[in-house]
Order: sequence, then structure tokens, then C-alpha cells
Amino acid sequence: MRCFPTQSRLQLLFLIALPLAVLLGAGCKRDAAGDSAGTPAAKPVPNVRTIDEHSYAEPGVVTTTDLALDLKLDFDSKTIAGTATYTLDWKDKSATQLVLDTRDLTIEKVEGETAAGQWTPLQYALAESDKVLGSGLIIQTPARNAHVRIAYKTSPAASGLQWLEPSMTEGKQQPFMFSQSQQIHARSWVPLQDTPAVRFTYTAHVTAPANAMVLMSADNDPAAARDGDYTFKMPQKIPSYLLAIAAGDLVFEPISKRSGVWAEPAMAKKAAAEFADTEKMIETAEKLYGSYRWGRYDILVLPPSFPYGGMENPRLTFATPTVIVGDQSLVSLVAHELAHSWSGNLVTFSSAKDAWLNEGVTSYVENRLVEALYGKERADMESVIARNELKEEFKTVDPKLQALAVKPGVLKDPDENSSATVYAKGAWFLQFLEQRFGRENFDAFLRGYFDHFAFQSIDTAQFAAYAKANLLDTYPGKVTQAEFDAWLYQPGIPADAPQTLSPRFGVVDSARLAWRGSAQLPPPVITSPWTTQEWLHFLDGMPETLRIDQLAQLDAAYKFTGTPNGEIAQRWYPLAVRSGYMQANSGQAREAIAEFLQRVGRRKLIMPTYEALVQTEPGLAFAKEVFAKAKPGYHPITTGTVQKTIDEAKPKPAPAAAAQPALQPVPDDAADIQASPQQASPQQAPPAG
Ligand code: BES
Ligand code: ZN
Repeated sequence: MRCFPTQSRLQLLFLIALPLAVLLGAGCKRDAAGDSAGTPAAKPVPNVRTIDEHSYAEPGVVTTTDLALDLKLDFDSKTIAGTATYTLDWKDKSATQLVLDTRDLTIEKVEGETAAGQWTPLQYALAESDKVLGSGLIIQTPARNAHVRIAYKTSPAASGLQWLEPSMTEGKQQPFMFSQSQQIHARSWVPLQDTPAVRFTYTAHVTAPANAMVLMSADNDPAAARDGDYTFKMPQKIPSYLLAIAAGDLVFEPISKRSGVWAEPAMAKKAAAEFADTEKMIETAEKLYGSYRWGRYDILVLPPSFPYGGMENPRLTFATPTVIVGDQSLVSLVAHELAHSWSGNLVTFSSAKDAWLNEGVTSYVENRLVEALYGKERADMESVIARNELKEEFKTVDPKLQALAVKPGVLKDPDENSSATVYAKGAWFLQFLEQRFGRENFDAFLRGYFDHFAFQSIDTAQFAAYAKANLLDTYPGKVTQAEFDAWLYQPGIPADAPQTLSPRFGVVDSARLAWRGSAQLPPPVITSPWTTQEWLHFLDGMPETLRIDQLAQLDAAYKFTGTPNGEIAQRWYPLAVRSGYMQANSGQAREAIAEFLQRVGRRKLIMPTYEALVQTEPGLAFAKEVFAKAKPGYHPITTGTVQKTIDEAKPKPAPAAAAQPALQPVPDDAADIQASPQQASPQQAPPAG
């Protein structure tokens, strides 16, 4: 507890009462979620439809309808300072306090506007900080002011911001900064009601050094003058996790009239070429699900330390540069982030427990866009890759996190959702419904769903009620309520889930099997038409470990070590580590792994390698060594995940490397996934492109 504006007896009382209020507030939320014994003294939160256990805000009492930011970016101190002004809608006419979420913020002043238009100080206190949730900011508002203003400053270690030295950028001349607000990191750079249950419009005035171009998840003007003084407007209501900002040496490259790429100068043309199909993707999505409602759709290419593949910040998708590989093979990322313009940004989950409503529906739509643009074969290959990943992940994921609708109290940290569940199982559920009801009916349903809940935040129960009325009851006899509910509320994958077979993966499986049995690589005639997806499947079907000579043979032919493709790297390096290849090939793999882990900060790409490394003592030592060097360049979110993996490691003493006979029969535990009638004739093959 700190930051008390004045000293008085009243304030002393306040000092004692506030932590209690926070505790009672939290207890009350948990009661409502049906998870604790109940706190008799707790004041019920009125009118709360959906409870978000990851926010201290009380949307049943008051909601923010507009946020006006006035901020200054300071690259030297790595801080943002300024004011946030809230327009409030008081639902509870007897309410006396406004509770906001914060994390590591310094609150300098809180004021409320009186009915006469005067700004007067309000009493406030920051509650003790929780590791996951940050600290509630409790503001005394007996007058239920229509406008409240907070002067504040961020910490250089804000979990939702990364400040990059020039050396960590492409151009190496200017510093760079960007935000990543999802899931609950917006509170580290703006005090707010950090729950997706609350939606608000926003405006911003941002100042920065004159050479820094500033962009936000708002109306960025492609022709904006780079002068250090910028204004933004987001006229549509968005949840807090879509608040976004970035600044650096950024230029614009158009793709179509309403879409383009922002990137560092050296990257802009390459990125626009990679994402050339964006306009076609928007048009395809519009045909299926109704007009794109956000004005422009631009993509911001970030430095490689961006902790995610992409982030669907409205009007300005944030994207990792690791998908710019020159052959458009990883552009399903754009399809995905664009799809969020309907599933997520338009119809939003009201808490992280229902993440599948965002990510699962989006992964389904993504696959439909990929199918429309690149054909069913590619879409099916991508589905199979995702489902195989799911099968792997479900071996270890807590069954409680395997239900699409996660029960209250299960998800301690919303960043620790099971991605297999929310993405792959979520998409699979919709593919199941599509198959049972027929594509035409299901497309009409989904389009109606987006229209019905547009600009609203909903939970799984609301989705289920809408689906019952507009799908199950409209087309009786296709899907029973029990089948429907099994997907939403049970762990695992229902036995009647539709299976997708990719004939092209059948060829890959045969080639892999034949190689494992004969040591003969598939001939170029087989492998030369392989796309990235086929190479990924080739690696996905490998057993836990291979022999050193096998790895060396693959590496000589396909140059996996040192690959510029992060998706290949995230499969090859863990296999190499588990197999003891790192110690074996005179340090070449060791060096390439270190380089990869230091260059890339995208969690999904690097975590499998860290996880493989920490299994053995020498691996753990190496992981620590690399992490120490990589850490200054990592995003706080990535740093947290790697640190946790290292801290919780239980390494075995012996390295995995062992001398093995040159040829072995394919063992029973072979991970090969799809059998195929085709047989590859074994010969030498060229490097993977
Ligand atoms: N919204 C997510 C990113 C996210 C999810 C951030 C949860 C924080 C918490 C984004 O749309 C996403 O799904 N990104 C994927 C890429 C996609 C192609 C599957 C990613 O980053 O891997
Ligand atoms: Zn997503």
C-alpha cells in the first residue's frame, strides 16, 4: 500500500479499510463463480453477468465507455508517462468507489470532474500487488464522477511493453518499443478495467522523439508526418487487451487501398511481397462472414523479439518477422489475425476462461481462408499438423484445461491456457458442427452469430444458447445436446470427431518410414515438390530420438541445422537435443541452437528447444548460458516463461548421446502418424527450400 495524497484520520481509516475491501471484493467474485465457501460480510457485486477472475474491476458497478490517453514516450528512461481520462457509466447508483487494474504503475494524481466541470483530487490507494494480477487501484468516488483522470508513469520493466536498444532492430540506428496487452498486460501501461467484459472507445495524443513513428491499434494514417506528435482515434468499442502501441523507425508499404505493411525500412518491401494476398483474404472473409467493419487492415512487422507469432490489434495486426520466409508458406498467420476481426475483436470472450471463443473460432475461420486461397490440400495439411500437436499436448495437459469452457478457479494465470485446447480443439469442434449441419447451413449460422453479438463480450453459455436456438433446434436430428456439450465441457476429443486425412502427408509418412527402415532417403522426385507443411510433418512424425548417423544424414541432405525457417527449427532442434546430436557434430548444432535462441524471442518457436535442453544436466547448463546472453533481448513475457522452465527443471545427469548400430528396424513406438499406400523409392534428395 502506498500513494496516499494527504494525511488525516479519515485517511487512516481508509488505509485500513481498503485492503479489506480488495480482499472482500476478490472473495465476492470467487463466491459468485461458485468456487469458495463464501464470505458472509462480502458485498455482492450487482448485475455482473460474467465474472472475470483475472481482474479487480467491478463492471457490474461501473464501466468505462471511453478512454482518452495523453502520453509521452521516453526511450532513455524506458517509460511512458501521462494521463488517462475515463468516461464512466455508473450502473450502481449507490456505488462509492472505482476499482481499476494496475501492475507496476506509479500513480501520481487522481482527479474527478465535478458536475460544475471542475477537476478535484480524489482519494485513492494501490492495494498490495499480486504476482499474477498486479494491484487493484481503489479510487473513492462518492460523487460517481462522469469523468476521472489519472496521472501516472510506467515502470521500465512493464510486463506489457518491450523497449529495444537500436542494436536489437533491423536497422540498428534507432530504438524501438511495442506493447503486448493480451492477456492481462494492458494494466502495466495504462490503469484500466482490464477485463474483456468491458468495451470502450479510445483516443490518444502521443509524443515521442521526432524520428520515431508511433502507431496504435487505431486509425493510423499511412501518410502521417513523422514529427514526434501523433493523435489517434478508435471509434469502435474494444476490450482492453486490444489496446496497442508501437514506436520506431517505421515506414509504410501499401498492399491494397485499405491494407498495407508497416516495417523498418529494410523489411518493408519484403514484408509487403510476403503478405501480398492480404486483400484477397479480406475479400474472402467478407464473403463468408459479412463486411470488414474496422476501416483499414494493416500489418506491423516487429523485431524478432516479439513474443508471439501475431496479435490481432484492431486495424493493425502485430506480426513476427519469423513468418517472412520468402515463399508465403507461413501466411496463415495473417489469415488468423485477420479472422480475429470477426471472432475476437467483434465478438469477444468475456473472460480468459472462454479463450476458445476467440482462438478456436478464429482457427476455424483461418482454415477456411487458407482453403479458399490456397486450396483444400493445404488447409487439410494445416489441420492435421494442429491436431497432431493437440494429441501430443493432451498427453500432459491437465484434463480440467482440456474442456473448451474452463471452470472458474482453474486458470490461475490466463497466459497458461492450453493452446491445444483453445486453438485446435476449438477449431475441430466447429469443423465437427460444419460437417454435421452442412457447410451452407453452418456458414449462415456463423455469419448470423457474428452479427448478433457484434461489439459484445460473451461467454460459452451465451454461445451455447445461441447455437441451440439457431443450429441444434433449427436443424433437428443432426447433433444431440449431449454431443454438443461433450465438446464444451469434457476433457479430450469426442470419439465422433471428424478425421481429416491428407494424402500428401501419406506420401511423407511413407518416405519417412522407408528411410527409417532402409537408411535410404526419398528421391528428389518425391521431396522436391514438398511444401513447408510437408517438411513439418516429416519432422513431426519422427520418434523421440534418432541415432546420430541418422540426424547427420538428414542434416547433410536437407540442411535443417541453421534453417532460416523457425517452424522447422522448433521441430529439428529439440529432436537434435534429445538425441545428443548437439554434443556430436563438432559443435555445429550447438552453435546454431545458441544463435536461434538468441535471435528469436517468439515463445512458441523457442520453448520446445529450451524444454528439451533442461532434461539433462549439460543441457540445462547450456540453456542457462544461452539464456543469460539472450535475456537482454527477450520480451518480459518470454523471459518469464524461459526462467520458469529453467527454475522448474529436473535434469537427469547423463546426456542422451550413445553409440548405436547403423541400421535398426523401425520400432513399434514409431511416431509416424498417417500410413499411406504410396511407397517412396529410396535415393538421395535435395535440400529443403
Ligand atoms: N491472440 C493471439 C495471441 C495471444 C493469445 C496473446 C493469448 C496472448 C495470449 C494471436 O491471435 C495468436 O493466436 N497468435 C498465434 C499465431 C497464430 C497463427 C496461431 C501465435 O502467436 O502463435
Ligand atoms: Zn489468435
